[in-house]
Amino acid sequence: MVARKPLIAGNWKMNFDHMRAIAFVQKISWILKDAKFPVTDVDVAFFPPFTDIRSVQTLIDSDGLAFAFGGQDLSPHDEGAHTGDISALFLKKLGCTYVIVGHSERRQDHHENDEIVAAKVLAALKHGLVPVICVGETAEDLEKFGPSAVPVTQLTAALRAIPADAEIVVAYEPVWAIGSGKAASPAQAQDVCAALRGVIGREMSTDAAASTRVLYGGSVKSGNIASFVREKDIDGALVGGASLDAEEFAKIVQFPRHVIA
Ligand code: PGA
Repeated sequence: MVARKPLIAGNWKMNFDHMRAIAFVQKISWILKDAKFPVTDVDVAFFPPFTDIRSVQTLIDSDGLAFAFGGQDLSPHDEGAHTGDISALFLKKLGCTYVIVGHSERRQDHHENDEIVAAKVLAALKHGLVPVICVGETAEDLEKFGPSAVPVTQLTAALRAIPADAEIVVAYEPVWAIGSGKAASPAQAQDVCAALRGVIGREMSTDAAASTRVLYGGSVKSGNIASFVREKDIDGALVGGASLDAEEFAKIVQFPRHVIA
């Protein structure tokens, strides 16, 4: 059995300018230090807006903080005439470890389909970034097809051309649970995350299925994180709203103190 290190990822979306970003990351590090919580058993990653990344990088490097960071999106292209886009090359150069791909807000606001998501996954991997691949069903999908059909289809498409040994993270984010305050039940999230692990096994390898971290996202808070990570196929969380509150996010990061194995 491969031990998967939990990942708590804060997706800031379009919040915080670069000055607030610095103050926020600093505050989280102080809270965790005061609480004597060693950031060794949990990976913690921030996903700031592009304009904040350089500032976050500089702070993390200069203070030697044990946090990773990444972009919220990337271009499928390396460089060239793509106004407004940011490539994996540039993110890598800024020290990013991760990049979110296929978040439902990108799928909705920017009409990103499975083909674009698959191309972005390959672009991230090509430049050594770990894609955090988001999948999830809408409320309508849930009613029509149940919870796992759409996420399974989306992940299968995203992994279509992926090398068997690629490092990826998968995030199951039911669209109806995002920002709604109405999280999925841990049992439902577990069922879908297990199905997604099955897709990783089929499209990549059994080793990849065993070692890949599958996260849950959608109205995660300090009050419900323990119930999710207790499930056997859930390896952490992608946190939106609650990642903008330093005290709350720091509590989520410290979930191992509240989960009895
Ligand atoms: P939420 O967002 O935690 O605010 O529901 C999660 C996400 O969109 O990643």
